[in-house]
Amino acid sequence: MARAQSSSQTSYETGTAEGPLDIINLYDLEAKAREVIPKGAFGYIRGGSGDEWTLKENTRAFDDRQILPRYLAGFDAPNTEIEILGSKLDVPLFVPPMAAHGLAHVTAERGSAKGAGDAGALFCAQTLANVPLEDIAKANPGPKWFQLYFMEDQGVNRELIQRAKAAGCTAIVFTVDLEWPDNREADERNNFVFPESLTFPSIPNAPVGASLADLGDIFKKDLSFADIEFIARESGLPVVVKGLLTPDNARECVARGAAAIQVSNHGGRQLDTVPAAITALPGIVEAVDPDVPVLLDSGPRRGVHVFQALALGARAVGVGRPTLYSLALGGAPGVQSMFETLKEEFQLAMKLAGCASIQDITRRYVT
Ligand code: FNR
Ligand code: LAC
Repeated sequence: MARAQSSSQTSYETGTAEGPLDIINLYDLEAKAREVIPKGAFGYIRGGSGDEWTLKENTRAFDDRQILPRYLAGFDAPNTEIEILGSKLDVPLFVPPMAAHGLAHVTAERGSAKGAGDAGALFCAQTLANVPLEDIAKANPGPKWFQLYFMEDQGVNRELIQRAKAAGCTAIVFTVDLEWPDNREADERNNFVFPESLTFPSIPNAPVGASLADLGDIFKKDLSFADIEFIARESGLPVVVKGLLTPDNARECVARGAAAIQVSNHGGRQLDTVPAAITALPGIVEAVDPDVPVLLDSGPRRGVHVFQALALGARAVGVGRPTLYSLALGGAPGVQSMFETLKEEFQLAMKLAGCASIQDITRRYVT
């Protein structure tokens, strides 16, 4: 894997536009964002690991199921509100943690956090943000969580958890599938390093102008179930374990203190050939107590995908890359448009399937 060369870039130019987007569907955003985001950064955002089998499978696998509508349901406007781990949302949608939103737009996480919040979706602030956690919290008008990359340095972990809590984050998302970043060939070909001008203010010891491999060197390598207990104890907040794909792993995490499970394969960016998140979802939902919320990210791009995921037991659905693409194209209002488009598609799916509320979307609505 390519190691960091020190970056010769002194300035980095990316998206600056601010305004709502005219969106036919979320897929269209990728080609448009490619025009705005520099090549290496675009390759980093779009890419997956290895053959990108899992990356493609994540969206394709929604084709394995079909929605079973019930007509004559006697309602007009569906209600999409949910509550998850105490967070009240207008839509069962969230921005999963993604590194370095500054790669996409000058406002970085300030733009995406505002856009998602304005659309009623949850924002997950990240360890690898380009602006301070407190600025993300200020920009975001809605509920937010914090994703922790568990560091070797336990002092940094403690500080991050306390800062997140003080900034108003109400859950800690513990990502467990990236002790070692996997092989992403686009980054090797482009010799991608994070631009020097985009720093990671949450981690004081982060190398500057570094590759992901170099950043990964400061992450703890022997993560274990005990780390869930540590985060729960230290934060006093619910811990969401992100990156699980098997029922036994999910069950064990809950037994060791996880309050929720986020089914995810990191958007096909980590171990290639693992199943799509939507394929892994039903087994995990079945394995854990019904009181334990199960979330899903990796692959959904359509309102019907959100509907399918909810029918299979997900409580909320994360949309990763389209957030960064819409951020690049329109800043906060761009992100808001993306979520509103997805919400409209999802509401239409609810209406046509005959589900008046989120609670109505059950297993019997999907094959
Ligand atoms: C990610 N992802 C990720 N996950 C995480 O827990 N911490 C992180 O810092 C990052 N960084 C990151 C950067 C970029 C550019 C991408 C695209 C993704 C994974 C992310 O949370 C989520 O699992 C996927 O993005 C979901 O897949 P889709 O919606 O992008 O297909
Ligand atoms: C990624 C990391 C940072 O997927 O999670 O690039």
